[in-house]
Amino acid sequence: CRKLGSKKERTLAMIKPDAVAKMGAIIEMILSSDLTITKMKMVALTRKEAVDFYVEHQTKTFFNDLINFMISGPVIAMEILGDESVCAWRKLLGPTNSSTARSESPNSIRAKFGTDGTKNAAHGSDSVASAARELEFFFPTSGGRGPPNTAKYTDC
Ligand code: TYD
Ligand code: MG
Repeated sequence: CRKLGSKKERTLAMIKPDAVAKMGAIIEMILSSDLTITKMKMVALTRKEAVDFYVEHQTKTFFNDLINFMISGPVIAMEILGDESVCAWRKLLGPTNSSTARSESPNSIRAKFGTDGTKNAAHGSDSVASAARELEFFFPTSGGRGPPNTAKYTDC
């Protein structure tokens, strides 16, 4: 990731089902980095949502295992803001395969909290364009969130 002349950008980070129990330690790593968590929510993805999220991998041999893993429990989705955040977050994540991560980048999130090539603790968008799509998936800016809350609380 570039250091000088870098630009603030947003990326989508997701703690996968295998690492939700360790979310405290992962969130501490983000908070002590130069990145900022600007949105966060826990969701249980449906099979259809998981397929939609990972549609680019639908022809891969690992696709079914990946989808079954992704719906095995809730995930935590986060919007991350920071200089070159797409790259910076993927650097914190480490290599895709957690076993590789343990030898190549032992302090990375996937090294510390993941298991193998599928159960790898967390996700990061791979480009600014993917980040835009994935942020819209979890944090839609129009539609899907219902009408604005206009309730007025005059009694308390
Ligand atoms: P990919 O986009 O290649 O990796 P990354 O998450 O680092 O961007 O793959 C998406 C996910 O698919 C990956 O996080 C875990 C899973 N996966 C497998 O289960 N087996 C594999 O061989 C690969 C390459 C990925
Ligand atoms: Mg990817």
